[in-house]
Amino acid sequence: MGFLEWATSPWGQRVPIHIAWFLIWVAAIAGLLFLMVHATYVRYFAKHKEFAGGVSPLVAARIPERVPRHSLTARSFHWVMAAAMFTLLFTAFLPKVGVQFDWVTYHWIAGSVLTVSIIFHIIHASFFMDFWSIWPDRIDVRDAGRRIRRFLGKPDPPPDRFAKYPLENKLYHGAIIVAGLSAIITGVFMMFRVRTIFFPRNPYLFGDMTWGMMYVLHGLAGVGLIALIMVHVYFGLRPEKRAITKSMIFGWMSRDFYLQEHDPARWPVDNSTSPPPSSRSAEPEGLTDAG
Ligand code: HEM
Repeated sequence: MGFLEWATSPWGQRVPIHIAWFLIWVAAIAGLLFLMVHATYVRYFAKHKEFAGGVSPLVAARIPERVPRHSLTARSFHWVMAAAMFTLLFTAFLPKVGVQFDWVTYHWIAGSVLTVSIIFHIIHASFFMDFWSIWPDRIDVRDAGRRIRRFLGKPDPPPDRFAKYPLENKLYHGAIIVAGLSAIITGVFMMFRVRTIFFPRNPYLFGDMTWGMMYVLHGLAGVGLIALIMVHVYFGLRPEKRAITKSMIFGWMSRDFYLQEHDPARWPVDNSTSPPPSSRSAEPEGLTDAG
């Protein structure tokens, strides 16, 4: 059983045509296994999160009740991208597992929406957002070492509280960039193989081998995204991550959650854009270690 499907070109060359579709199930089962192992670990084995130091009452008092996290533009991008991503996954893979329909048109339309939204996101993130907030920094790397050593039972200081994004989220974003850009770049070229409104069809743009490799890369990125999206949705639904998910809907997270998990020195609050708090307290809770 090979990982690719092959065909013979009119010139007698053996060329790959796409991935073997059983990889859909491999990705889905891998995603499911991850969820089961993680949920079991959190339920029965994980220790309570511990962070180094605490936030001074003076700093905490300046934190608004609602800490702004995602602007309306960033949230709109996220949900447009999510809708396009789900449409792409379902239109691509349902026909491969037996649900037949005319999928290609819906697929390239959703692909075009995703492509435009990602181009927008790259410009928005580079020039209007804090570009570096999503890339691992030196403290993340040091703290990853600390967390691993503590997990193995070695004596090590607890990690610092997170900046805007924990290391796991940053690594996930990196994986999505690799899989997403692979699907998008190959997908844009693959639009030359079908009829779209953008450019005339030209199946001779590349040779058979190049087209084959492109379909393989598109398929690999696609099945990779099955597992990645499953994991993303799972974390979004987990009770301890609900504050983060809510912030992707409403734009803000509570001061308590912010002070528990985030370091105001690493992720300073922009008070100018904070949503109007219903009340302000000079005695905020959650000033000590999350325990
Ligand atoms: C979540 C992202 C995506 C997934 C899971 C996905 C998956 C797939 C799969 C499995 C196929 C069938 C390929 C084959 O037969 O080997 C396909 C075809 C195709 N994809 Fe995607 N894709 C994604 C994103 C995109 C994007 C962003 C575009 C366009 C910008 C795109 C455009 C196309 C086109 C035009 C085809 C049809 C090619 C043909 O029938 O010859 N896809 N996609």
